[in-house]
Amino acid sequence: MKGKVSLVGAGPGDPELMTLKAADRLRLADVILHDALVSPEVLQLASPRARLLNVGKRCGEKGITQAEINGLLITFAQQGNFVVRLKSGDPLVFGRAGEELTALRQAGIEVEVVPGVTSALGAAAAAQISLTDRRAVEQILFLSGHHACGKAEPDHWSIPSRTTVVVYMPGEHRKIAERLMRSGFEHATACLVISSISLPSERAYRTSLGQLSLIPLLPSPSLLIIGSTVDTAAVADHPPLDPATYPDNFEPLTIGS
Ligand SMILES: C[S@@+](CC[C@H](N)C(=O)[O-])C[C@H]1O[C@@H](n2cnc3c(N)ncnc32)[C@H](O)[C@@H]1O
Repeated sequence: MKGKVSLVGAGPGDPELMTLKAADRLRLADVILHDALVSPEVLQLASPRARLLNVGKRCGEKGITQAEINGLLITFAQQGNFVVRLKSGDPLVFGRAGEELTALRQAGIEVEVVPGVTSALGAAAAAQISLTDRRAVEQILFLSGHHACGKAEPDHWSIPSRTTVVVYMPGEHRKIAERLMRSGFEHATACLVISSISLPSERAYRTSLGQLSLIPLLPSPSLLIIGSTVDTAAVADHPPLDPATYPDNFEPLTIGS
């Protein structure tokens, strides 16, 4: 008796942004292995009889390994369960789904993928930005500010002009701003900072790449969108910063100015 695994996208947090299929899979699941970023509102859609396991992990922290998660998915399915692997946003975007799909296929487990609203699209909707506004851009680039543990960080990215850039897991804003300026972006390029997309705690503001490193970080999870399309965002600008408030050791960003 073999069960099945469904890799399901939970969207950015608001359950109304989930697909009907995703909500259906949560109702049917015997076991749900979810990431730390999946909102409590989404988890409420699970059947009360479902077993819920938080398998969220953070780079550098001791916790469950990817191999252990793969093992749990396989074991629960081999026991005949309908297993949902629930990931924030879309399961195939920065979600290690590739490793899980490989392991499940090798174990001969039936698997399906249910897409979700990735946070880039949730952010664009919240700020009313057309990511592909043809007046300004020709493509979108999704980047991760975080690199797999042990992998060297690039000092710049190769980014064609007329691109909207979305940075997932941005980490330190200064590093991101420096990398983008080395990649050819101007100091004045508009930048959206947004956290807790689609949740009651959502916060967003617009700033420029040159000011990004000076502005306090928003609570995690947060996302950045950079490019001329952000000029039209329906969000307030972060108030201009007074140089008198800059930290003592502050060094201005000079790249690309
Ligand atoms: C491991 S990635 C997962 C991405 C996810 N699979 C997706 O499609 O959105 C985690 C990053 O996604 C972004 N993220 C996910 N949910 C978010 C939310 N509700 N608000 C802001 N950013 C979010 C943040 O950049 C966070 O660090």
